[in-house]
Formats: sequence, structure tokens, C-alpha cells
Amino acid sequence: MVETRIGCESLRSKVMSAEDAASLIGSGTTVGMSGFTGSGYPKTVPLALAARIEAEHAKGNPFGLRVWTGASTGPELDGALAKADGIEFRLPYNSDPIARDKINRGEMEYFDMHLSQVAPVAWQGFLGPLDTAVVEVSGILPDGSLIPSSSVGNNKTWLDRADQVILEVNSWQNLELHGMHDIYYGTALPPHRIPIPLVRPDDRIGETVFRCHPDKIAAIVETDVPDRNLPFAKPDHVAHAIAGHLLEFFSHEVAKGRLPASLLPLQSGVGNIANAVLTGLVDGPFDNMTAYTEVIQDGMLDLIDSGKLRMASATAFSLSPDAAATLNANMGHYREKMILRPQEISNHPELIRRLGCVAMNGLIEADIYGNVNSTHIMGSRIQNGIGGSGDFARNAYVSIFMTPSTAKGGAISAIVPQASHVDHINQDVQVLVTEQGLADLRGLSPKQRARVIIDNCAHPDYRPALSGYFDRAMKHSYGLQTPSLLNEALSWHQRYVETGSMHQ
Ligand code: COA
Repeated sequence: MVETRIGCESLRSKVMSAEDAASLIGSGTTVGMSGFTGSGYPKTVPLALAARIEAEHAKGNPFGLRVWTGASTGPELDGALAKADGIEFRLPYNSDPIARDKINRGEMEYFDMHLSQVAPVAWQGFLGPLDTAVVEVSGILPDGSLIPSSSVGNNKTWLDRADQVILEVNSWQNLELHGMHDIYYGTALPPHRIPIPLVRPDDRIGETVFRCHPDKIAAIVETDVPDRNLPFAKPDHVAHAIAGHLLEFFSHEVAKGRLPASLLPLQSGVGNIANAVLTGLVDGPFDNMTAYTEVIQDGMLDLIDSGKLRMASATAFSLSPDAAATLNANMGHYREKMILRPQEISNHPELIRRLGCVAMNGLIEADIYGNVNSTHIMGSRIQNGIGGSGDFARNAYVSIFMTPSTAKGGAISAIVPQASHVDHINQDVQVLVTEQGLADLRGLSPKQRARVIIDNCAHPDYRPALSGYFDRAMKHSYGLQTPSLLNEALSWHQRYVETGSMHQ
């Protein structure tokens, strides 16, 4: 592999084992790792690091790291390091169950932030220095530039900012990825920022490779380990119903002349419902579509295969193992239809606003006024993080949130009197969809929104209780712009915490 994947002769002497590379990372330091939704994360150095941390702990020596990534990663990174009690501080998005447990037990500090802001914030400096970058690449070219792998995330920033760089060269990644990426080097901090010259989702404004000064490269580790994403659930009747309501909404908007027949660049969030909606679009009437989104899921590949999606721009793949294998086997074909960019560009507010994205994201709960909680169960327990949903929701042409109307087998209503935590204020939530129906909230006052959300989106089992609450609030609220009875509203969540059900 050394000859084919590591084209730069002078760097070949840096090849070493994962254990030797891991020994270069010291306790108390900050490590910027590649990785975004199970794609393109380093797979052997973090495992070796976890083993080393466990050995140090066994000897009674403290060992902890500050870990920055693109978004979620895989079990070999977040899972292994969290299990080893090796992460003191983590940003910006996590979906690993072991790390989630540690965070919710108060054993790991977690800084959840908008994904577009991670790179600029790292440059601002208040997070402190970045000691080491551990980045997976597909290969190294003779001039030392790096071919990215299946995610770009914050890698450009980590490579630029870190004092030392450890590369994992992964031969599982198809070398035909070379040419798919668009790494923009024009970002800067104020007052030196200039407009980003991207006006269509398929514009290329950067380079196909990362730059990295060879002197900074401390170690190169060779791997052939696949990305590890979970399979998507087969869309059930709830997902089909949500997709159906959305397709109807899009057709209506096209008929009214508010959306073009090819729609506007699609952004689709993470999770099974978002994936099912994309798959639903395969049978829809819209052609020649584009996507300007954060991750490319299975449904996007289906849309490309169907000929309905012309191209997709994102920062990473988030594919089931089967879809990843298909992509890998046909990379040359897909490369022409996809662009992977740094997450500060894929999620950039300026670009999302300019392109007029149609944003579709999942949620934990929404209240009757349209405030959305994407992150916290019962107001206090983190699920994943805000991810890119805030980047897209605030700046989209139309911002859609979708969810099953109940959770935990019906014990929880996803529509509540007052969200127990708010990630997206009602001004950033224009359309709400459940399997029950769709609420078009655009141009509605809070009281008008409440009626539409309860009638169209809430599950029939919870509608009477929600209507009863709203009627009482209309009588007894302190003010009537957004009627609320604060104690009663939040008692819905407390009831679940105490009895395991929100039912009255
Ligand atoms: N109350 C309590 N728990 C709830 C709940 C609610 N109202 N709604 C969902 N849950 C639980 C589910 O039961 C499930 O728990 P489990 O893992 O123990 O089974 C978990 O939350 C995930 O729910 P699921 O139905 O599998 O959701 P999903 O895969 O559609 O994801 C989000 C939903 C909100 C978690 C997901 O969309 C997310 O992380 N969003 C934030 C980031 C984002 O939007 N990124 C995309 C931007 S590009």
C-alpha cells in the first residue's frame, strides 16, 4: 500500500504502528479528530489511544483529553475513548451511546454547538490551542497534499491549526474519491472576511485536496478499516405518512409558484424519518433536483439513481453499510454527481440563505407555538446535539421539522404545551409535520399556530389534553400573545419523569 497510497517519498519514513502514533498524544492535550456521522474518522489510533489510557489508569495515572471532531464518529473513536474514561471535554456533536451516558451522568463536559461555527470558533482561539490533529485520508500525493476520505468536516482547520498531525491512510476508501472534494481556503476571521463565491450547489470554489506542511506530519498509520454507519430502519407507515404530507406540501407550493418545479436545494437531516422522506421523493413528481445539505444518506443515493436528483453537495456520507459498499464500488460514477466540502461551507448561513435551501430536520418535541427541541429529553438529558439543524433552520427558504407524533410507544406526546428545552425558536420553524398531518405556520400568530399544530400534528390521544390546556391558558395566562400556564405546561414532562407516561 505504501507505494500506491503514500505518493510522497519523503513522508514514507513517518509510517508507524497505531500504538507508536498514539504515544505521541499527551494527557491533558486537545486532539482534533476527523469524522462526521460514522464516515472518515480515524479507526486505529483512537483505539490504541484508548488502550494506552486504560493502562495509565490501571497504574493510577490520570489521563484525559479534550476531543474536537466534525460531528459524530464511530465506536472505535467516541465509544472506545469514552469507555476508557479518556474524554474530559467533547465538542460538537455526539451520537455514541457510551459517550452519551457519560455526558448525562455528568462525567464528561460536552459543548454542543452549531456545526458551521466549529471551525471559525477554533480560529478565534478561546477554546485554546489544538495540539494534535488525527485525520483519516484516502492517500497522499507526491507533492504531500492529502486526498480526503468519506468526510471533510473540520479537517482543513485541524490540519492548519494543530501543532502536530497524525494521518491514518485508509485503503478501504476508494482512491476514486480523489476529485470529489472541494476544499475552500478563502475563509478568514473578521474584519478580513469576503463573500464566499458560491452561487449554485454544484459550484466548485476550492481545491480537491488538503494542504499540510510535511514538517507537521508526525506519524502516518496505514489502515483498511471500513466506515461504520448503522443501517436505516425500513420506512414504516409513520415515515410514509410524513413523506406523503411533505410531498403534498411541495406540490402545493409549486402550484402556487412559491417553489420551482425542481424545488430548491434540499437539506435533509439525520435519522430514519429524514431518510424515508428522501426515498419518498423518488416517487414524487419533481425532477432535476439538487441538494445542498450536510450529509448524503441512502435516500440521496436512491434519488441520484432514479435520475431525479442532479447533484448533491454535503460534508460527509452517512450511509448504511450496504449503501456505503455500493458507493465504494461505483465511486467513479457518483463522483460526478457529488461534492464534499468543509462543514463551515456545507452549513454556511450565507450560502444556505443565498441558495434558498428547503431544510428538513427531525426533532424531539415541539410545543404548540412551534418552538422546537432537537436535543434534550425532558429538558435535561442530551440525545445527540443540535448538529447542523440550527444552521439550516434559521437560514432556509423554508424550514421544516418532522417527527412521529408520539414517542416511547405512545407514552410521550411529541407535541407539548411548552418545550422543555428550545433549540429552534418559533420564528425558525415554518412547517411542522407528523404522521397526523402538516401545519403550515408561515404568517401565523402564536395563538393561530397553536390551533393548527394541535389540530393537524398532535396525536388524537393527546389532542383533548392539549386543547384543554390551551383553552385554560386563554383564560388565565398573564398575557395573551403567547398564552401559557408555566407550571401546568412543564408538568407534562415531570409527569413522564415520575410515572413513565405523559397521559393525564
Ligand atoms: N421524548 C422522549 N424521547 C424521545 C422523544 C420525546 N419527545 N422523541 C424521540 N425520543 C427518543 C426516541 O425514543 C429514541 O430513543 P431510543 O434511542 O432510546 O429508542 C431517540 O429519542 C431517538 O429518536 P428517533 O425516533 O430514533 O429519532 P430520529 O432518528 O428521527 O432522530 C433526533 C431524531 C431529533 C434525535 C435527530 O434528528 C437529531 O439528532 N437531531 C439534531 C441534529 C440534526 O437535526 N442534525 C441534522 C442537521 S443537518
